Amino acid sequence: MMVREVMLVFFFLLSFISASVVYDHRALVIDGKRRVLISGSIHYPRSTPDMWPELIQKSKDGGLDVIETYVFWNMHEPIQNQYNFKGRNDLVKFVKTVADAGLFVHLRIGPYACAEWNYGGFPLWLHFIPGIKFRTDNEPFKSQMQRFTKKIVDMMKQEELFASQGGPIILAQIENEYGNVEAPYGQAGKSYVNWSAAMATSLDTGVPWVMCQQMEAPDPIINTCNGFYCDQFTPNSDKKPKMWTENWTGWFLSFGGGIPYRPVEDIAFAVARFFQRGGTFQNYYMYHGGTNFGRSTGGPFIATSYDYDAPIDEYGFVRQPKWGHLKDLHKSIKLCEEALVATDPTYTSLGPNLEAHVYNTSSENCVAFLANVGTQSDATVSFNGNTYHLPAWSVSILPDCKNVVFNTAKINSQATRLEMRSLNPIPEHQTSKQIIDSFKTLQSDWSWVIEPVGISKSNAFTKFGLLEQINTTADVSDYLWYSIRIEIHGNEPFLLNGTQTVLHVESLGHVLHTFVNGKLAGSGFGNSGNSKVTLEKPIMLVLSNNTIDLLSSTVGLQNYGAFFDTWGAGITGPAKLKGKNFTLDLSSYQWTYQVGLKGEELGLSRDPSGSSSQWVSLSTLPKNQALIWYKTNFDAPGGTDPIAIDFTGMGKGEAWVNGQSIGRYWPTYISPQNGCVNFCNYRGAYSSSKCLKGCGEPSQKMYHVPRSWIQPSGNTLVLFEEIGGDPTQISFATRKTGSLCAHVSESHPPPVDTWELQPQTGKKLRPVLRLECPSPNEVISSIKFAGFGTPHGTCGNYGYSQCNSARAPAIVNQACMGLKSCAIEVSIEMFGDPCSGVTKSLAVEASCT
Ligand code: GAL
Repeated sequence: MMVREVMLVFFFLLSFISASVVYDHRALVIDGKRRVLISGSIHYPRSTPDMWPELIQKSKDGGLDVIETYVFWNMHEPIQNQYNFKGRNDLVKFVKTVADAGLFVHLRIGPYACAEWNYGGFPLWLHFIPGIKFRTDNEPFKSQMQRFTKKIVDMMKQEELFASQGGPIILAQIENEYGNVEAPYGQAGKSYVNWSAAMATSLDTGVPWVMCQQMEAPDPIINTCNGFYCDQFTPNSDKKPKMWTENWTGWFLSFGGGIPYRPVEDIAFAVARFFQRGGTFQNYYMYHGGTNFGRSTGGPFIATSYDYDAPIDEYGFVRQPKWGHLKDLHKSIKLCEEALVATDPTYTSLGPNLEAHVYNTSSENCVAFLANVGTQSDATVSFNGNTYHLPAWSVSILPDCKNVVFNTAKINSQATRLEMRSLNPIPEHQTSKQIIDSFKTLQSDWSWVIEPVGISKSNAFTKFGLLEQINTTADVSDYLWYSIRIEIHGNEPFLLNGTQTVLHVESLGHVLHTFVNGKLAGSGFGNSGNSKVTLEKPIMLVLSNNTIDLLSSTVGLQNYGAFFDTWGAGITGPAKLKGKNFTLDLSSYQWTYQVGLKGEELGLSRDPSGSSSQWVSLSTLPKNQALIWYKTNFDAPGGTDPIAIDFTGMGKGEAWVNGQSIGRYWPTYISPQNGCVNFCNYRGAYSSSKCLKGCGEPSQKMYHVPRSWIQPSGNTLVLFEEIGGDPTQISFATRKTGSLCAHVSESHPPPVDTWELQPQTGKKLRPVLRLECPSPNEVISSIKFAGFGTPHGTCGNYGYSQCNSARAPAIVNQACMGLKSCAIEVSIEMFGDPCSGVTKSLAVEASCT
């Protein structure tokens, strides 16, 4: 063979094993082709490896091309130089699972993550390196950051996971949103950005790097946008594409807060606007949020559920109509891909708040986006000689500059109602034969261990003054005891009446319990906005010796903000005894400290049987008592539905199933009475507090128990209860799909997957209402509601109005009953016209069994 032919064969082979990823002004360019890419975040430690394939498949089915994840340094290197890449930390396996599904990966190495993750993802040992300053031009920090980043890059290279090696990783991120906090770091912050960029580039991954929220990201790093909307964003160079790394699909939940949710009409609007105005890469943060197992939540006060109102819910179910409507959107955008990547859009105003953007490369290749960005009124616009109805706050997509394939405010997708089906409470003193029903789970008695108040461990130590908590515990535990002894003679000037005085304690947070002579005197806790606690309590001392024990606990370490690593926690004082005219400040006295709990040292959670001699099981189960460990056994709830524990009845603590922590529970932290909306108006700019639900209720009462952590029988559940509760009240629940609903009007576009048929049929396609049972073995077994005309209400409470076709129930029954899925044309030809001159719609609620 000639040299040239040999070379050609070589390049031919190479093109199979590796992909080149570069970028230009319009888009990421993969193997020479500009691409429109839809991406979604799934954080591997927030689910279990057995869940990954299904989550990724559902992402693919939802129209994603890319999975985005952070890398969580503290999980991988909990102790300096000791690595953990097993189980939920198996990053390589996760990346390969994504590759197996045929999707790309965007690896956000950071290694700062934020992500509502403990300490933003930094391992605690990092804080103790002499002279270290995080996220700035500081040698000790930079050398650790470089070492870990390189470690991850090398690991990916070794497994040939970069696209340049034939793997799925097409993009990597260094740092995270540093631009948001950079100013306080001054000049050193600027040099740090330059250093980070150069360091990342030098690692030679063969794929582009991004920095998010970093306006002055140095070349060749692409600066990207994060937010609820990014259509107004422009990158810092004409040579870089417009990319959106975090489109928040909802928001995270805090203990003490309401549950945030974001309507899909608004998300779809934001996405369509982004592509309308030149974007080509968009990522949902989160596509599956998952669960903050163990003590992984950041904070303070981030809840254990990280559901995020994402298109795939915490338990792995598709959330409808969110998932389905976005899937239709993705298909519609993909119909436009060729024109989108070919050129910049041209903008024309169609009137106040009415915008048209056209991507026109030739007469056959024309794509238009028509937007009504007004929040109040729908509009009728004329474009290219045709008229279009544009609801307020919506975008219509016209893949041929003529026909509407999709409007962000018109949902064709079905909705599903996801339910938690409660199983029976765990009965007290129930034997294995006393099965209450087929779902029976917990069978045995509860046993318990009392956690001592105050100092009980041999590693206690004394110090003058009050110590900051994180520096003292290195976060090996949530808990730190501060203990002091005071001798009272009766004549002390801080005494009020006899031996009464007032105890005043100030803490940086997050939770504080005070005990006087072994008895709980008072508790307090902060909230996600302000973690500080100040407690002032009248207390009664005794003549002679008194012990004051203060228990401080953290609820996830700060993960965001300039210098967040130094904000601190715990009782930094003052701590005082206050009389009428005299105050005794104990702050600089000698205190005795204990890091962690006795039960943690004994391994009560990890090895409940190894510590069996400790557990008491008498008939008098102590209830509503602070500081107590509980243990019981249970059988797995039947079936394969995902499982949760309903912790109603308990106070606050942590729970372990077969030695694995399912996270902190805190069902007594109730969200404020006000601030929720019954109906979330998707029109108008969204913010994280715009739409909340669950006001006046526990922020989180249900806690996910991964199926893969339990066996059919003989499982152990251990709880550490901090403030007091009744474990016999807790119960198991399973996650199920309830009703299916859909509501489609005559003015909805026809289904997006019939788009290609349009030219062939020659006639105008009609909107269609479709229903499909989510589980493959189920069929539609009842039609609870079927109304054509002007039915009102939402899924679960549709109602008929005056304008109503009497034929609807029979037609829908005939079309759907006994089938796995059905499709019904929404038209007066089908149902007759119950009221002319009005736009009519079809609403159906059904259930499957
Ligand atoms: C962003 C950050 C993410 C996450 C998000 C809120 O600012 O980059 O890591 O914290 O906010 O969920």
